[in-house]
Amino acid sequence: MNKTDNIFPSKENIPETFKLTDTIMQSEYLINGEIRNWKGDFQEVYSPIFVEDNGKYNNYIGSYPLMGKEEAMKALDAAAEAYNHGKAEWPSMTVEKRIACVKKFVVLMKEQRELVVKLLMWEIGKSLKDSEKEFDRTVDYINDTIEALKNLDRESSRFTISQGIIAQIRRAPLGVVLCMGPFNYPLNETFTTLIPALIMGNTVIFKPPKLGVLLHYPLLKAFKEAFPKGVVNTVYGHGENILGPLMESGKINVLAFIGTSRVADILKKQHPKPHRLKCILGLDAKNPGIVMYDADIDETVRECITGALSFNGQRCTALKIIFVDEKIAASFVEKLSIAVEKLKIGMPWDSEVNITPLPESNKTQYLTELINDAIKFGAKVVNPSGGIVNKSCFSPAILYNVNSEMRVYREEQFGPIIPIVSYKDISEPLDYIINSNYGQQSSIFGKDADQIANLLDTMVNQVCRVNINSQCQRGPDNFPFTGRKDSAEGTLSISDALKVFSIRTLVAAKESEINKDIIRQIIKEDKSNFLSTDFIL
Ligand code: G3H
Repeated sequence: MNKTDNIFPSKENIPETFKLTDTIMQSEYLINGEIRNWKGDFQEVYSPIFVEDNGKYNNYIGSYPLMGKEEAMKALDAAAEAYNHGKAEWPSMTVEKRIACVKKFVVLMKEQRELVVKLLMWEIGKSLKDSEKEFDRTVDYINDTIEALKNLDRESSRFTISQGIIAQIRRAPLGVVLCMGPFNYPLNETFTTLIPALIMGNTVIFKPPKLGVLLHYPLLKAFKEAFPKGVVNTVYGHGENILGPLMESGKINVLAFIGTSRVADILKKQHPKPHRLKCILGLDAKNPGIVMYDADIDETVRECITGALSFNGQRCTALKIIFVDEKIAASFVEKLSIAVEKLKIGMPWDSEVNITPLPESNKTQYLTELINDAIKFGAKVVNPSGGIVNKSCFSPAILYNVNSEMRVYREEQFGPIIPIVSYKDISEPLDYIINSNYGQQSSIFGKDADQIANLLDTMVNQVCRVNINSQCQRGPDNFPFTGRKDSAEGTLSISDALKVFSIRTLVAAKESEINKDIIRQIIKEDKSNFLSTDFIL
């Protein structure tokens, strides 16, 4: 029997708590503070989880609105009006009041935890543990963002005097932000841009990713209740129908997008005045791990498995190719293979599950193609169940003896394949990194401090985070998260995000008596929201 046989449940075998009692026919969307009902076409939603019912398998779980240009423009008008050149209520509101709105949102959001977690499991196949982590990490991120903004506000509440000029320097919003997250972290990564964008006074049009849409509907009411009308607007549908018109309008001031560099390039080019568009982008990556001759093999195997296979390898930060010194390659691969075979394949709610069904419709076919292509050029799948497919489930495969002729050497597989390249000389993985189109992170495994120092000094100018004996990852969320080349534009972290969604703006005056008097009056009588020494405790 194969590891992927009989993994899909029958209706009766799904634990009560995780059952989807009804299909979810989402017709609501939020524009201009109103939850409206969609009357047009709908997109059917299929889960990666197939459920057996009377001998037939079904994975249809619901639908969402397929909006078009007209509704996209309505969302844009609402967001533009709620910004109104920075004169509207939201952008000119005090930081304290904006924080109060975000706090209200968090309270309402937390009430939806159970449903959002369940939908994360059904829509993208994320394990219960990881779905709960995604939700809780997002709530922590929002709370930490509030604290970071209070700090920023305290720092900006004082005046600077230089060369006879008095100034108060603060950060001001940028305008209308188009926010789009990826399917692998549909909640977390969307909110790591949406929340800082909002809290800094921008207004938002939010389009959920292609997969992982329904899980946002329980939050529509929270957005409506927590924020003034038009501050958050949602659009759903095919990118080409919605995003093209939005970008071509020239009224999008910031593009916050986490997805492929191919789509990011298309969107940027559609804006008529690219110099007016600020982009915060999290894009492609193919993070390499380098395992040196003296690495602790057991520890490295553990770290490489988490790095390459957490959420089935569907993380932008996943280790997507591993270079191993030929002196230890055979024993490393053997231990890796034993460990991979022990991984549990199952449904997201199964306890201790490691590998779950994949949400992208042709994904198992694509991964099989990558494996066949690699085999054609001399690679071998070394673990017995590697590459076995059952519907949307793909048993993780270790591909050994990968070389530059193979597609998997360059392509971002974003799935459970671990390509292993054995190297003679350390210059080989270094050349790979230098010649790669990507520049997000890398991992070095070894013990020799001199060698590690040499390697990392080269790598830090190629990627944006070098991990020593540790997998690549985004967190902790207060660390900077960015990349070079095709991997990113702009830096995100709790405090950096506040900066990228705002611009430094100052009020300055020559230090004359009359100017001092004007400033004193404005401050004393609380006449301005910007020019003020108030700070939040
Ligand atoms: O998909 C990319 C995510 O930012 C990865 O985050 O390293 O915390 O899983 P993570």
